[in-house]
Amino acid sequence: MPSSLPNKPDTPESDFRFRCIACGHLSDSAGQDFRCGQCGDLLEIVYPHWQTAKPDAPALKTAWHNRKVSSCPADLSGVWRFRELLPGLEDDREIITLREGNTPLYELPRCARITGVTRLFAKHQGMNPTGSFKDTGMTVAATFARRAGFRWVACASTGNTSASMAAYAARGGLHSLVLVPEGKISWSKLSQALDYGALTCQLRTDFDGCLRLLQELVRNAPVYQLNSINPFRLEGQKTLVFELLEQLDWQPPDHLIVPGGNLGNSSAIGKALLEMRELGLISHLPKLSVIQAEGANALVRTLREAAGKSLISVPAETRATAIRIGNPASWKKASNVLQATSGACEQVSEAEIAQAKAEIGAEGIGCEPASAVTLAGLKKLLQQGFVKPQETVVLVLTGNLLKDPDYTIDFHSGELFEQKNKAADAAMNALRHPPVVLDATLEAIIQTLELAEKP
Ligand code: F0G
Repeated sequence: MPSSLPNKPDTPESDFRFRCIACGHLSDSAGQDFRCGQCGDLLEIVYPHWQTAKPDAPALKTAWHNRKVSSCPADLSGVWRFRELLPGLEDDREIITLREGNTPLYELPRCARITGVTRLFAKHQGMNPTGSFKDTGMTVAATFARRAGFRWVACASTGNTSASMAAYAARGGLHSLVLVPEGKISWSKLSQALDYGALTCQLRTDFDGCLRLLQELVRNAPVYQLNSINPFRLEGQKTLVFELLEQLDWQPPDHLIVPGGNLGNSSAIGKALLEMRELGLISHLPKLSVIQAEGANALVRTLREAAGKSLISVPAETRATAIRIGNPASWKKASNVLQATSGACEQVSEAEIAQAKAEIGAEGIGCEPASAVTLAGLKKLLQQGFVKPQETVVLVLTGNLLKDPDYTIDFHSGELFEQKNKAADAAMNALRHPPVVLDATLEAIIQTLELAEKP
């Protein structure tokens, strides 16, 4: 097995390099921990040929549009359709794809009314093949894992990464190893990893503990790490922005709001925005804002208390288990893109998350709790005047409603919070729709219908 990754093919046409986000050191290959050989910070992928032969923006838009009617597997993928802005492959048949991306952009008229903004959209990444945004990154990173000759891929996860990795590994004929915190991921996500054949280890620690161990593991065993420290993941996740802007006819919204956990996704979205502006695909940048749960607010504290200079880790606790992360790996990348796009970083309470999730559900769309922080955060950003009512806002919904059914059922049956907050309860009661148990008679059903009609 290779001890360092030949991530970059040894051909003159290779079109990308790894660059350290701290010292700027450039390299053609990366170690198994995807850290800079000089200073140990994270790496990002860059495309040096853009300096000399800048891709032509109108030609790109036309090519991407035309691929929508193609039946070739690379074009059917909502990620590889944008392949000019991704690490290049010599042969499209190397791609491991489940037709990821191609996710809908929905208007949210009811949530717009509730919050007071005129135009509110949701880019629903939960509509990906395994139900979360992770698939857009995984198709790229799993493809490069197989290309580099690895048999095993591995990740630490709060659930969605493991579900996605296990699926792409299975499709690509790779073995997968999953490290998850015992008892702290939803059954739905765990069941996916099991079904796709991953070797699944439930560790008696939290996500941060799992990630620490994974980092040690990849230095000691020939496994390829597929966490978002892996910069190929972030390249794939950029495509959500390309697709979004295409859906908006290349008119940037005023605000993009995204949940923050390990902070890979916000970093990828920010990178995409900056690259699109550099290439002339958009004329100006939307403000990118990151929302965290109050109980897992490392970036919020890092920006407020340390001016973004050094990470303040926190012991993470939230029922939005996807973002139950206290020591986010990509905090520096995220803080850089927030600064570059003049975005904000906010935190929201458990009650605010629950209410926002039910409000999104009432639109007939639904999402998992971690995604709902975006709507809860928007309310705060409006109150603060950071978002103006007449501005256009896009919320990035990262996971499908079906990812965490326990949370939804607990909410509707009034059992979500151990210590009930009466004020929040009153506001939320109108959103609750607990199941009704009835005798199996027509009369009972008609009575219940009549009751439901009463104000
Ligand atoms: N939303 C969902 C549904 C997630 O699963 C995650 C992260 C995030 C938001 C936060 O994204 O980490 O890029 O800031 N889930 C990871 C996992 C950590 O293991 O599935 P991030």
